[in-house]
Amino acid sequence: MLPYKRQDIPAQKFMTRIYAAPMEGITGYIYRKEHASHFGGCDRYFMPFIDPKDHASLMKKEKKDIAPENNTGIPVVPQILTNRADRFLTTARMLEDLGYGELNLNLGCPSGTVVSRGKGSGFLTSPDRLRAFFEKIFDGLADSSLLLSVKTRLGMKSPEEMAALMEIYNDYPISELIIHARVREDYYKHPVRLEAFQEALSVSRHPICYNGDLLDFEAVERFRKRFPQVDRLMLGRGMIAEPGLPLQLAEKGPDQAWKAKPMDYLALQDFMEDLCDRYEAEIGNNALFKMKEIWTYMLPRFEVPGPMKKKLIKSRRLSDYRIQARALFFEAISA
Ligand SMILES: Cc1cc2nc3c(=O)[nH]c(=O)nc-3n(C[C@H](O)[C@H](O)[C@H](O)COP(=O)(O)O)c2cc1C
Repeated sequence: MLPYKRQDIPAQKFMTRIYAAPMEGITGYIYRKEHASHFGGCDRYFMPFIDPKDHASLMKKEKKDIAPENNTGIPVVPQILTNRADRFLTTARMLEDLGYGELNLNLGCPSGTVVSRGKGSGFLTSPDRLRAFFEKIFDGLADSSLLLSVKTRLGMKSPEEMAALMEIYNDYPISELIIHARVREDYYKHPVRLEAFQEALSVSRHPICYNGDLLDFEAVERFRKRFPQVDRLMLGRGMIAEPGLPLQLAEKGPDQAWKAKPMDYLALQDFMEDLCDRYEAEIGNNALFKMKEIWTYMLPRFEVPGPMKKKLIKSRRLSDYRIQARALFFEAISA
């Protein structure tokens, strides 16, 4: 079975659509598959970007991530990072041939090397070039049923840039606009800019998905109180820290209210052990680094003594890591 095509993506199951954010180095196919089978709750998993080079060629790692056999039965959306319409179109056709019905364009990546090449959030500084790019790609996709969404920041330096960008987005048939409510210079730390998000929301002709700092259940509830009209939310670091969060948001009570639940450490342990096994089978001892990166997001949520956390992060071998992780879960579960 191929990955979901547009027509295969299940009808909206929940009142609010929950999307898993693309996170390069973390939410690759192994993570997505384990997350979907252990927790689920995500209407879509956006894949970390692929960055087509000359002749739209992809790196081995990128090819593996988009391979249909690695995404079977999971509602995934590939993401393309480029400012070249020719490369975008060749890649989009290739993805369409693989069975994908929906793609996403990355206009948010803040990394220095990406921005200096005018890609990701670097593309936001050239509205005229961005318009010309959209003109070409939508012209090139005229005979295709591919859906294209855009993931954007509010600008490069100032959220005031967003008004001109919204005029461009509004002129093209994008399927939804995912707004990470920061500018590039904010990277991931500056508080999200909800006033500027509100302005973009008020002028958008497209469905809007909100992204940024929905780090826990309470943050999602606060956001929903302020913006009840936004019915699509994308979770990044909050989901990595708490993989059960999307499901918790998906499972509303009979009164349609979200219910806060304590962390299910047993389910989390099961997930983390399977994830580690899958990584080990795929990349051997390098699984250690993958697992430790994920733990940097999860550890602050664990109420266990600091030295235990330190031991886990400092483990040098996969076997040590497994012992420390088990000890940590044992402590958290019995606390
Ligand atoms: C390690 C890391 C990798 C990321 N990789 C991508 C990516 O490949 N594509 C993308 O559009 N955004 C990427 N992002 C941004 C996230 O998708 C998201 O927009 C950001 O983390 C803000 O959402 P959050 O506050 O829910 O985490 C990445 C973020 C981080 C921290």
